Amino acid sequence: MASKWILLLPVVVLLTVSQVEGQTAPAPAPVVNTVNTTFTESDFVFTKCFPFGSTFANESGMLVAGIGEPYFNNGTACGSVINVQCVTDADHPWDNSTCIAGSVNVTIVDKCEDKPPCLNLHLNAFQIIATRNISGFIVSDFFEVSPGTGIDWTPPAQG
Ligand SMILES: *[C@@H]1O[C@H](CO)[C@@H](O)[C@H](O)[C@H]1NC(C)=O
Ligand SMILES: *[C@@H]1O[C@H](CO)[C@@H](O)[C@H](O)[C@H]1NC(C)=O
Ligand SMILES: *[C@@H]1O[C@H](CO)[C@@H](O)[C@H](O)[C@H]1NC(C)=O
Ligand SMILES: *[C@@H]1O[C@H](CO)[C@@H](O)[C@H](O)[C@H]1NC(C)=O
Ligand SMILES: *[C@@H]1O[C@H](CO)[C@@H](O)[C@H](O)[C@H]1NC(C)=O
Ligand SMILES: *[C@@H]1O[C@H](CO)[C@@H](O)[C@H](O)[C@H]1NC(C)=O
Repeated sequence: MASKWILLLPVVVLLTVSQVEGQTAPAPAPVVNTVNTTFTESDFVFTKCFPFGSTFANESGMLVAGIGEPYFNNGTACGSVINVQCVTDADHPWDNSTCIAGSVNVTIVDKCEDKPPCLNLHLNAFQIIATRNISGFIVSDFFEVSPGTGIDWTPPAQG
C-alpha cells in the first residue's frame, strides 16, 4: 500500500506541473522552412496519401499540395495543414512582381518527387501567393498550422 503511493506521488506532481506550464508558457514560435515551390494542375485523386483515391482535394477547392522529404516524413505529413508565403522568384530574384503579399493554407495530400526539399502547390493555391506565368519556381517559406494524421487519415467531412 505505502510503496504504491511513493511511486504515484511524483507522477501526480509532474503532471500537475506540466499542466500549469502548458497554460502559462507562451506558444512556441512555429518552425519556418524555406522550400523551392512549383505548381501543378494535378487532380490529386490518386496520391501517396490517397493510395485508393480520394476526391478530398477537389471538394476542398484544391488548396492542396505535395511536399518532399524530410517534411513528408514517410507519410506522417499527410493531412497536415501548412501556411505558405512566397519569398522570391527563384529565377528572377530581382522581379518583385512575382510574389503576391499574403499567404495560403494548404493541406498536404501527396509527396513531391522533385529533389528535396520541394513543395508542389495546386495552381489554385499557387496563384494566391504568386503570379502564374513564371518560367521556373518560387522560393517560399512555410510553417505547420496543424499536424498530419498519416497516410490512413480520414479526410474531414465536407459541408
Ligand atoms: C532551390 O533550387 C536552387 C536551384 O536548383 C538551389 O540552388 C537551392 O538550394 C534550392 N533552395 C532550396 C531551399 O531548396
Ligand atoms: C471536381 O469539382 C467540380 C466542382 O467544383 C466538379 O464539377 C467535378 O466533377 C469534380 N471532379 C471530380 C473528379 O470530383
Ligand atoms: C514508411 O511507412 C511504411 C508504411 O506506410 C512502412 O512500411 C515503412 O517501414 C516506413 N518506412 C520508414 C523508413 O519509416
Ligand atoms: C519593385 O521594383 C521596382 C523596380 O525595381 C520598384 O520601383 C518598386 O518600388 C518595387 N516594389 C516593391 C513593392 O518593392
Ligand atoms: C491558416 O489557418 C490558421 C489556423 O486555422 C488561421 O489562423 C489562419 O488565419 C489561416 N491563414 C490563412 C491565410 O488562411
Ligand atoms: C506575365 O509575363 C509578362 C511578361 O513576361 C508580363 O508582362 C505580365 O505582367 C505577366 N502576367 C502576370 C499575370 O504575371
